[in-house]
Amino acid sequence: MAFALAPLPYPDTALDPVISARTLSFHHALHHKTYVDNLNKLIENDPLGAMSLAEIVRATAGKADKTAHFNNAGQVFNHDFYWASLKPGGGGEPAGALKAQIDADLGGIAKLKTDLAAAAVGQFGSGWAWLVWKTKDRKLAIEKTANADTPLARGDAPLLTIDVWEHAYYLDHQNRRAAYVQAVIDKLLNWDWAAEQFAMAKG
Ligand code: FE2
Repeated sequence: MAFALAPLPYPDTALDPVISARTLSFHHALHHKTYVDNLNKLIENDPLGAMSLAEIVRATAGKADKTAHFNNAGQVFNHDFYWASLKPGGGGEPAGALKAQIDADLGGIAKLKTDLAAAAVGQFGSGWAWLVWKTKDRKLAIEKTANADTPLARGDAPLLTIDVWEHAYYLDHQNRRAAYVQAVIDKLLNWDWAAEQFAMAKG
């Protein structure tokens, strides 16, 4: 069964001016869609076609003969997750159980924001920064991954992500990745989404 490009959860003007409609429309309708189309071509007449997206990511992680499958499935998952990690009027701070876990594992909200920004800015080349629930250790962590890599590949549960491929910010911020990252953290992060993911992952 073919995967479909999920619609954006908000109008393409909703994240302006941090992420303009021009960036959002190109990013979703061209970049994200290409990953969906490529994945569908790759899984046609293939046993992987019977799996969920998450199952394809985990089944192909680290397999040298499945690099294209992993890259395209990972990028579909990562982009779906990125759109959900943002919202108009976002930013601010988490509350409740997630805040308590951040205080315990990551030294508080202010330090989390600093460390998340450092991971996003410090990712060499294309990739992603993450707030992630480490399922084996049962604690939160900040991670960065390259290209299409994703915490899902290791069985961990992402809570939030920031896309730091240049296509995510170059039209609006040119080479100023740090300005894009800081504005996303301050104005767009969807802490309600993170809290939902945390509740599901922690169980
Ligand atoms: Fe992207």
